[in-house]
Order: sequence, then structure tokens, then C-alpha cells
Amino acid sequence: MSELQSPIDDVLMSEEQASNLTYFAFAKSTHAEPALVPARASIGELPDVLAGRYRLERLLGAGGMGAVYRARDLLHEQFGDPDPYIALKILSEEFAESPDASALLYSEFALTRRLRHDNVLHPYTFEVDTDCQRAFITMELMRGLTLDKLLCERPLGLPWKELRDIVLPLLDALAYAHRRGVLHGDMKPSNVMLSEDGVRLFDFGLGQAEEGILPGLPHLSRERFNAWTPGYAAPELLEGQPLSASADVYGVACVIYELAGGKHPFRRLPSTQARDEHLERELQAPQGLPKHCWPALRAALSFDPAARTITADQLRDAMGATSSWLQRLRRRA
Ligand SMILES: Nc1ncnc2c1ncn2[C@@H]1O[C@H](COP(=O)(O)OP(=O)(O)OP(=O)(O)O)[C@@H](O)[C@H]1O
Ligand SMILES: [Mg+2]
Repeated sequence: MSELQSPIDDVLMSEEQASNLTYFAFAKSTHAEPALVPARASIGELPDVLAGRYRLERLLGAGGMGAVYRARDLLHEQFGDPDPYIALKILSEEFAESPDASALLYSEFALTRRLRHDNVLHPYTFEVDTDCQRAFITMELMRGLTLDKLLCERPLGLPWKELRDIVLPLLDALAYAHRRGVLHGDMKPSNVMLSEDGVRLFDFGLGQAEEGILPGLPHLSRERFNAWTPGYAAPELLEGQPLSASADVYGVACVIYELAGGKHPFRRLPSTQARDEHLERELQAPQGLPKHCWPALRAALSFDPAARTITADQLRDAMGATSSWLQRLRRRA
């Protein structure tokens, strides 16, 4: 998703003006806030400062249900944090009043919080701004490129040396999430960031917990809010089957294939259409991929979930294995 220039930049006070304000962290409970937070309206009814603490600075991206902003945590700043920047995901206006949408946002937060992994985005808090009645998530600010942007810069894909450094951590993250009973549900290039701190999988907005995990989370029908992404969703999802780890494997395999050769395996067609047109018959190993990785990736791209038996862990092992290691294994057999 391209970085959108937000109109909020126009209505923000200058740094100088802002820094002249004395900020009281707990201003909400005092009468000082109106004097500190400019009263004028800002984009889409959003105040400039949320929950008396997070100053919205710039729109980073917008998606199906909400928007993500770069924000400054004024409380941390007040206590001398040299890097008080965070990212903040908030429901857009049309969803703000829907309790189901807030519950979905909470579910995204709860799923992500269950994961503590270097290659999964680190969430901070789930909060509600009581004045504007909007729920939002705060999280680490990733600085870098999402894989869709990387693909725009590298339309022919990446050589194995570079590819490996993205694909292995990405599969590590996904395999870990699956082990923790968390399904992602929206594996696609724009939901993976190549950040200054390494690869990060994020946006569990369409995610779900496996049966018995996080039982308190409401089970909401995702279809009511946000369709699956047709070019990356496995056929069974598009046909109404529930989300599964295997569907995530299909999505991540599309991402890996695209990174390896610059082209989506099935011309970005919805997987049901690609299957009905038998596009798998034309499927060839992408350029940048070593031969020993292809059988596993090919299996992960199976349209038929019964044939897609490979797990994220196994795909990771296959991608991480060196060809000489495989040769040694074969010789021993
Ligand atoms: N923590 C973050 N740090 C920096 N940028 C972020 C962060 N989270 C999201 N973004 C940016 O905002 C975009 C949208 O974020 P996200 O995918 O979470 O929202 P979404 O509403 O679910 O979008 P979509 O429906 O397109 O998947 C991302 O592609 C990325 O460019
Ligand atoms: Mg997204």
C-alpha cells in the first residue's frame, strides 16, 4: 500500500507551536486538556490527539476497515523517550459505531499479542478514545518497505541470497503463529514488512484462533466485514470453507513465488478461477528459486486442500535446506 500523504499534515500545528505546549499526560482527568489540544476539527472527525496521549502525525496506509497512522506518544516523550513514535490503527468512521467492528479490531490485537516472535509485529495496547468513541491499537512503528512495494522496485524478483533472507523469517513467523494456534487469514505482500529491524508479519485483521485458543474472543463472520484477498486466498476460502493453516500456506506460497520471479503464480486471478482454468498445468519453477525448493513450494500452491499437505514448518525446512544437505540425505538413503 502506498504511503498516502495525509491531509492531517495540513491541520497539525508546527513542531514549534506544539513543543510550546506543556503536556500533561493525564490531561483527560484534568481541565487542562482543552487548552492543550487544539479544538479545531481534523480529518474525518478524528482529534489530533487520541486518548490524551497519541498525537496523529501522518497517514501510513488505509485498508478495508480502518487506517494506520504514525503517531507520537506524548507521555513517553514527556519522560524523555528519544523515539516516542508508534503506529496506531483505528477504525474508519463508517465502522466506528459498529460493536462488531470494534470486536474485530480487538481480536486482531489479541491474536497478535499472543505471538512473541522477532518476525511478528509487536503490538502495544488496545484503547478507546472516549471523546470520539473510537477503538484503536497502538503498535511498534515499522520503518521500511512492504513486500508489494519491494516488488514494484524489483519487478524481476530477487536472487536466492536475498530471497532466502526474507522467506525464511517469514515462514518462521507463520509456522510459529500456527504452533500457537493463530491463523493469519490474509497472507499477501502488503501484509509483510521488510523493516529496519528485520522481516515482520502483520495485519491479523482477518485472523482467527484455532478451536480452544483464546476462547473468549467472539466468533464473528469475517465475510460481513471484509472479503478475503482473491489473488492470495485459497480456493476453499473463496468457496466458504473456514480459515485453516493450510489456507495460510497457500497464501504464503503465492507470496514466495512472486518474490522469486516477480510474477504471481496465477496472474493474480482469484484462485477458484485459476483452478477452473487449470493454470497449475502451466506453472513453472520461478527463476530465482533453487531446484531443491520447488517440490515443496509446488505442493504448497495446490488448489486442492487435500493435496496441499505441507505445513508452514515443512515448507520452511524445505526452503532452509541446502541442496548439498539434501544430496547427502539422498546418498544416505
Ligand atoms: N506498525 C506499522 N508500522 C508502519 N506501517 C504500518 C504499520 N501497520 C500498518 N502499516 C502500513 O499501513 C498499511 C495498512 O495496514 P494494515 O494492513 O494493518 O491495514 P488494513 O486496514 O488491514 O489493510 P488491508 O485491508 O489493505 O490489508 C500497511 O500495508 C502498511 O503500509
Ligand atoms: Mg493489510
